[in-house]
Amino acid sequence: MKEQLSALETEALEKIAQVEDTKALQEIRVAYLGKKGSLTAILRGMGKLSKEERPVVGEMANHVRESITAALDEKGEKLEWIALEKQLETEAIDVSLPGRPVKVGGPHLLTSIIEEIEDLFIGMGYEVREGPEVETDYFNFEALNLPKNHPARDMQDTFYITNELLMRTHTSPVQARTMRANDGSKPVKMICPGKVYRRDSDDATHSHQFTQIEGLYVDKNVRMSDLKGTLDAFAKKMFGKDREIRLRPSFFPFTEPSVEMDISCKVCQGKGCSVCKQTGWIEILGGGMVHPKVLSMAGYDPEVYTGFAFGMGPDRIAMLKYGVNDIRQFYTNDARFLKQYHQV
Ligand code: DAH
Repeated sequence: MKEQLSALETEALEKIAQVEDTKALQEIRVAYLGKKGSLTAILRGMGKLSKEERPVVGEMANHVRESITAALDEKGEKLEWIALEKQLETEAIDVSLPGRPVKVGGPHLLTSIIEEIEDLFIGMGYEVREGPEVETDYFNFEALNLPKNHPARDMQDTFYITNELLMRTHTSPVQARTMRANDGSKPVKMICPGKVYRRDSDDATHSHQFTQIEGLYVDKNVRMSDLKGTLDAFAKKMFGKDREIRLRPSFFPFTEPSVEMDISCKVCQGKGCSVCKQTGWIEILGGGMVHPKVLSMAGYDPEVYTGFAFGMGPDRIAMLKYGVNDIRQFYTNDARFLKQYHQV
């Protein structure tokens, strides 16, 4: 029996030494030490031994079990290490490889311009408001002193949805909406950017959908000089310190008096060129003092409150600022065009 045990030990240790994967190692463990394993089988024969032999063989059997167990454990650990090293090798990351470029989007040029203008006016104490693009005839026209059959309605070719509903032709209805929301008693200082719609044929300078930014300041003692100062500050921040502005008399039904504002042409420094059509000036926006009728329709007493308003086109401003010569480029989603203006 002693020989049997020692042969078994030698055999097991040899197999353990040769084995190369954990599954086979586990099989060896079962084959030798398991319930039906060879060591157990030998030990079953112990009953036949004499009283003297039994403890000696018993001790040897324990020794064999311990030596096989130790060899199994040690090999197990070794195999695990080898597996881990292999994994590290195959999954290794080569940090010196060039990275894959990540495609980054960016805001649309018009969005950037609108945000820039918003920031300028927020800096002067204005709130940013919004209004609906599907508007009522009342807010788009009547509340702005453009009653039905008023000839000036023709200035803005309108997409009508029903007799009373339309796509707003300008952001000016938000003036009336904001004043109404302020109960005719609180001061208003707001700008409103948004999309507007006109029944125009699209060409290089016209689009049936474009953007506007409305401005409105109503309070006691608001004067024309406040409008001029505000617009001058805006023009210099937006287009550069050396820009001059000039106000020309104009007509809008919702302002009295009304003006149009020009800035001095940057291309020719006011000398006259093709961009400014040889005038040295470029028209930027319309504005004026809020018409007393518009104030009173919105609930403000024109004897107590006065205000100024203005409206400008971010599309046109973007075209001037970046030399874009076709308004349709803003709306045709050609990524090659739009990407030029992404500031990362
Ligand atoms: N709503 C005018 C337009 O679309 C622009 C405008 C002019 C807005 C004068 C104003 C203003 O607020 O005072 O042509």
